Amino acid sequence: MKGFWSGIGVVTEQSRFDWARHWRRVLVRGLAIGIGGLMWVATPAIAASTLTMPIQEGAALFSMNCVACHIHGQNLIIPEKNLHYETLRTYGMYSADAIMWQVRHGKNIMPAFGDQFSPEQLEAIAAYVMDQAQQDWKTTSD
Ligand code: HEC
Repeated sequence: MKGFWSGIGVVTEQSRFDWARHWRRVLVRGLAIGIGGLMWVATPAIAASTLTMPIQEGAALFSMNCVACHIHGQNLIIPEKNLHYETLRTYGMYSADAIMWQVRHGKNIMPAFGDQFSPEQLEAIAAYVMDQAQQDWKTTSD
């Protein structure tokens, strides 16, 4: 009888051990899929950013000069004047010329940046704002 019970003991120990290994394997596989998935998502983003330098430069300038009031494409001062696609369209601001003009000259509480930016930098900022607006500010790093 003793041998019988210890036999059962061994069997249950054995099966518990197997489950632990099974779940560990499932976890490792899940992690591998997760990391693989992340790389799959990140690679096109990296490729795109190296191809579109002006937008990247615009992103950096936006981070330094605009996020204080426009974080995530919002407008923290006048919420309805945000930088979302529909809003920009509504106020005739979905155009590089309009955005560049407003950055240079300001509007109401928005400060005029004057000649602080070169024409190329202004273009990069406008391109970035319009690009983010199109993506609903989902890929912004700000
Ligand atoms: C001190 C806060 C502040 C800063 C900094 C600021 N803005 Fe603004 N921005 C505003 C306000 C306020 C408005 C709304 C102006 C109005 O129409 O009365 C606005 C409006 C805009 C609009 C038009 C939005 C719309 O829906 O009509 C754009 C585009 C814009 N800002 C871009 C920028 C960019 C690009 C920068 C950085 C170079 C910047 N802003 C920096 C406060 C700011």
